[in-house]
Amino acid sequence: MNMSVLERCRAFEASGMRSPLNPIVLERAQGAYLFDNEGRRYLDLSGLFAVASVGHNHPAVVDAVIQQARDLMHCPSANPSRVRAEFYEAVASIAPKELNRILPAITGAMANETAIRIAKTRRPQGEVITFSGSYFGRSPGIVGLAGKANYRESLGIQAAGQFLPYPATGETGFRSSNNVIETLNSLAGPAGGIGEIAAVIVEPVQGNGGVVIPPSDFLPRLRAFCDQTGALLIIDEIQSGCGRSGKMWASQHFNVVPDLMTIGKGIGGGMAVAAIVGKSEYMTSWRPDSYSSTFLTNNVNLAAAVAAIRVMQNEDLAARSERLGAKALKKLQQHLQNLPSVEEVRGIGLWVAIDFGLSSEGARIASLVLQGLQQKGIIAGGGGYAGQVVKIAPPLTIEEADLEEGLDTMISVVRDIICAPQQEYA
Ligand SMILES: Cc1ncc(COP(=O)(O)O)c(C=O)c1O
Repeated sequence: MNMSVLERCRAFEASGMRSPLNPIVLERAQGAYLFDNEGRRYLDLSGLFAVASVGHNHPAVVDAVIQQARDLMHCPSANPSRVRAEFYEAVASIAPKELNRILPAITGAMANETAIRIAKTRRPQGEVITFSGSYFGRSPGIVGLAGKANYRESLGIQAAGQFLPYPATGETGFRSSNNVIETLNSLAGPAGGIGEIAAVIVEPVQGNGGVVIPPSDFLPRLRAFCDQTGALLIIDEIQSGCGRSGKMWASQHFNVVPDLMTIGKGIGGGMAVAAIVGKSEYMTSWRPDSYSSTFLTNNVNLAAAVAAIRVMQNEDLAARSERLGAKALKKLQQHLQNLPSVEEVRGIGLWVAIDFGLSSEGARIASLVLQGLQQKGIIAGGGGYAGQVVKIAPPLTIEEADLEEGLDTMISVVRDIICAPQQEYA
């Protein structure tokens, strides 16, 4: 019997992995294009989990990977290497200057777990403040801080922090920071009931939540709260960083420097790289051999990150993201904002969300749009608190004409689904 790739995967795969309706069997990628195993081409407006900041298989990253694979692949954390030094120098060259100590990690979840552990080393009994709609990764050590309880339900993991609403300009209804900050101050007060706070962990713009942009005073007020209480401010730039928001780091839009910043996704140019970048006073308390993992400093991964960071700098991708993102947002707002069922079109940098409203109907429309786009050879991302958002986070290197064409298709698919009989997309 000639089994399909999907059937072969399912024959052995345990349960728990993502299983979308009509998954594309990926074979190849180049720039902003993906190709399936039958040679069909798709324009990638999703960055495949918002990873492809420098584009898929950027030639400079591919060259670095090939060269490094020839020289040295596996290099344990007990052995320093030139590539590891280059990685630290490259990360330091794009990080806020106050954040001058770095620990590597392999996944974003690992970086966030480690950042929380650094904060808890200072205040072992301290609470962690997190926010509704947050996403910090799915490993058992961090999923307890996720805003979506369903991410931990089948794992039997409890909520691991104190949740506050994330104020937003969009759908959540908590439009001002005032209530959130007042509640935080009250929780931290003598009768607040939670005692000392070790850390406040926050996305500067929520990614999985659906490009949720907070009011401009939110992060500065969290910064002030942490300064007053001695809690560490951990900003997760795993999705929002590397130029995605139109600046290298989204927290720069709010003029806030965290105590610890976690980075991942685009930083590895397509390879498994993440890191914790922090202030020296918090990043230098662990004894040697407190932190390790077999593949923590894999030199092929780190060489890819060094190459990707150079691409971000040389091609000024943050500025490109700002420029192309502003055009994309304007166009999508012009054509979609006033349609029935479209609650909001919002964005920052080349990171735009079409929000169909926080309801099961909104989620149904978003899902139809994603399927309709896929049928037309366009891959966009899903997201939102209820799955009601269609998100674009394309490679920041995408050709302007390709982006334009992709947006035109997106506009016509959304229009068709909202305004025309829906059977053909069902
Ligand atoms: C903001 C944010 N933090 C953390 C993570 C987790 O990263 P990883 O999937 O590499 O563990 C993600 C992944 O989507 C993310 O968007």
